[in-house]
Amino acid sequence: MSSIEKFVDRLMGNGPGRTEQGGAVPESSGTTISTTRQSGVTAEQSFTNVTRQAQADDTAAIDLERMQAAGMLTPGNTRSLIAEEYRAIKRPLLKNAFGSRAAPVEHPNLIMVTSSLPGEGKSFTAVNLAMSIAMEMDHTVLLVEADVAKPATARYLGLMNSEPRGLVDYLADDKLSLEELLIRTNVPKLTLLRAGRSHPHATELLASQSMRRLTQELSQRYSDRVVILDSPPLLLSSEAVVLSGLVGQVVMVVESGMTPQRAVKDALSLLGPDKIIGIVLNKSRGGSSQGYGYGYYGPSGYGRD
Ligand SMILES: Nc1ncnc2c1ncn2[C@@H]1O[C@H](COP(=O)(O)OP(=O)(O)O)[C@@H](O)[C@H]1O
Ligand SMILES: [Mg+2]
Repeated sequence: MSSIEKFVDRLMGNGPGRTEQGGAVPESSGTTISTTRQSGVTAEQSFTNVTRQAQADDTAAIDLERMQAAGMLTPGNTRSLIAEEYRAIKRPLLKNAFGSRAAPVEHPNLIMVTSSLPGEGKSFTAVNLAMSIAMEMDHTVLLVEADVAKPATARYLGLMNSEPRGLVDYLADDKLSLEELLIRTNVPKLTLLRAGRSHPHATELLASQSMRRLTQELSQRYSDRVVILDSPPLLLSSEAVVLSGLVGQVVMVVESGMTPQRAVKDALSLLGPDKIIGIVLNKSRGGSSQGYGYGYYGPSGYGRD
């Protein structure tokens, strides 16, 4: 068994003799952070056509009420189960990025949220995680809509009427400044960079040297900043694999009861050995308040928070 297979088995609570080839990832596990399936999440429908009003202070207004009604995390529901779940998810990420024993990887404050396949909850997770970290005293968050083929981040936040240009425009035009494209919001520590216009060479742009330079700059310019990339799925897009090479930490979203374990293993095998990887078991039906843990497959071998 390869080290990746052992890693997945360990994270997903498989005993040594258990067969996992064709099975879906189990509903709950004691060693992976799980997030419950939220009822009433209708982000796609409810946020698509909402007209946002510009705020007087030139920040864009995230529709926090709607997000909260849709079961997502907002500064108004810090005592909810979802807030608790995301506290457990962010804790090890922040420790790796900023703790006194910060992880020995490059750019640990660049965090990619990805999954094996579409629809597992990458955008949902990226937005909630960004919100959760933005509510911390000490950190600012830049949320990057990096799934340029299927951008969803602005929709979840209700920011479809904000500055439409973003990542792709920046990469395609070296005269554009990032400052023009960053969308500051009514959550003071949360800034968004949208995917931007569709472009025939978007995939190549994401894999370009400009993207490498951009991520390095984003990582280094503000030492307290966390950059979260809401990314495409690893098994269906070559750019996701390239993006993973730019970040220090990878949050792998796995849809509870749906994603075949083989898919998770194949996706993990595409990531470099120098990454810190955490797995979030999403849409779990059971309560997830017990058994939190976070597995890492990184340069220092297996570790647990
Ligand atoms: N924990 C959750 N509870 C309820 N619905 C969820 C949860 N996570 C994701 N969803 C829903 O699943 C669908 C796919 O999620 P999304 O984050 O857009 O997937 P991806 O970005 O991986 O393609 C969306 O309708 C989203 O609202
Ligand atoms: Mg998405």
